[in-house]
Amino acid sequence: MKGEQGMQRVLSKVAIVVVAVFAVTSGCALLEDERTAKGRKLYNHYCMHCHGESGQQQEGFNWGRMPDPRPRDLSESEAMSTFSDKEIFDTISRDMRDTTLQEVLDDENYFAVSTMPTFKYTLSEEELWAVVGYVRTLHGGSLTFDVEGRKAELESQFKAVEAAHDQAKQAMDDALAKQEAEEAARAEAEEEAEEDDEDMDMEDDEDDLEDYDEDEEEIVLPEEEAYEKVAEQFEAAKSALENFTKRPKMTQIARPDLTVTEPERVALEEKGKSLYYDKYGCNGCHSIGDVGGLVGPALDRAGFRLNDTWVYRWVRYPQGMKKHTRMPNLGLDDQDARAVTAYLETLRAPKPDKPIPPPE
Ligand code: HEC
Ligand code: HEC
Repeated sequence: MKGEQGMQRVLSKVAIVVVAVFAVTSGCALLEDERTAKGRKLYNHYCMHCHGESGQQQEGFNWGRMPDPRPRDLSESEAMSTFSDKEIFDTISRDMRDTTLQEVLDDENYFAVSTMPTFKYTLSEEELWAVVGYVRTLHGGSLTFDVEGRKAELESQFKAVEAAHDQAKQAMDDALAKQEAEEAARAEAEEEAEEDDEDMDMEDDEDDLEDYDEDEEEIVLPEEEAYEKVAEQFEAAKSALENFTKRPKMTQIARPDLTVTEPERVALEEKGKSLYYDKYGCNGCHSIGDVGGLVGPALDRAGFRLNDTWVYRWVRYPQGMKKHTRMPNLGLDDQDARAVTAYLETLRAPKPDKPIPPPE
C-alpha cells in the first residue's frame, strides 16, 4: 500500500514536470514562430530587392545592378554559420562609415561595405533581432541569441539607473535647499551689518556688490554635478529600453538655410559626391545614367525635379515624410545632408528623348 502511494506521488510529480516543460518549450516555440514571421515580413520589405527572396545571389531584382562587392549568398550554410547572431545584428545595425578612409577598411571589427545600408535608425532592436532570426532560417539555422534575456537586461539596467537618478535628485534638491537657506541667512546678516556701518560710501558699496556677484556664479554644488552625470545615464538607459520595442523617432527636421558662397558650394558638391558613393552607398539603390540600383527612383535629373530643402529633409529622415518607405534612414547628420543635397542639385541630365510612337 505504502509503496503504491509513493509510486503514484512520483508519477504525478513526473506528470507535472512533463506538462511544465511542454508548456515552457511550446511557449518559447510560439514566441519564436511569431518572431520569425515578423522577421520575414521585414526582410521582404527591406532586404529582398538586394538579397533575394531566399537569400540567393541574382534573385533580387536589384542584385545585378549593384557595384562590387555584391551581396553574398545568405542561404549558404557553411559560410553564414561562421557568423554569430551578434555579428549579423551588427552588420545591419551600425553607423555608415566613409570607406575612402584606410582606417575604416583596416578595421577588422567593422563591416564597411557602403552599399549594405544600416537599419539602426529605421527599425527597433526587437525588429532587428527578428530579421536576424529570419536570416538564420535562410541557411537552415535558428537564432540562439537570448532576445528576451536582452530585454530583461535593459529593463533591469533602467530600473537600477532610475533608482540612482531619483536618489541623486533628492540629494541635489536637499543640497540646493540648504544652500538657499545659508544664503538667506548670510544676506540677512550682511544687511544688519550694513545698517550698523554708518560710514560706508558709494564706491565701496559697488565693489562689494561686484565681489558678491562673482562668487555667486562659481558655486556649483557637487550634488548638482553628480546629478547631471546620473541624469545622462538615465536618459541613455531610457532610450535604450525604448528603442528595444519602438522604432527610432526623430523630431521633425526643420527647414535648413542652404545658402552658401560659391567656393563653399563647389567644395560641398565634391564632398557630397564622395559621401553618396563611398559612405552611404546611395548608388546601391539609385541610378545615375546607366549605373546604380533600381530600388529607388533614378536621380539623373534630381537637380531639376527636386527642391533642395525637400531633399535635405528627406535624406535626414525619410520616415518622417513617408512612414513605410523602403529607403532606410542612413543616419546622415546636418553636414553630410547638406553636402549630399548640394551634389544632387548638380544632377541635371537632359530629358530623355521621347520614344518614337509605334506605327499605327
Ligand atoms: C541596397 C542593397 C541591400 C539591401 C537593401 C540590404 N543589403 Fe545586406 N548586403 C548588401 C551588400 C552589398 C552586402 C555586402 C556584400 C556581402 O558581404 O554580402 C550585404 C551584406 C549583408 C550580409 C552579410 C554580412 C557579411 O558579413 O558578409 C547580411 C547578413 C545582410 N547583408 C543582411 C541584410 C538584411 C537583413 C537586410 C534588410 C534588413 C539587408 N541586408 C539589406 C546589400 C544590401
Ligand atoms: C535601400 C535602398 C535605398 C538607399 C540606400 C537610398 N535610397 Fe533613396 N530612395 C529609395 C526608395 C525606395 C525611394 C522611393 C521613396 C518612396 O516613395 O518610398 C527613395 C527616394 C529617394 C529620393 C526621392 C526621389 C524622387 O524622385 O522622389 C531621393 C532624393 C533619395 N532617395 C536620395 C537618396 C540618397 C541621397 C541616398 C544616400 C544618402 C539614398 N537615397 C539611399 C531607396 C534607397
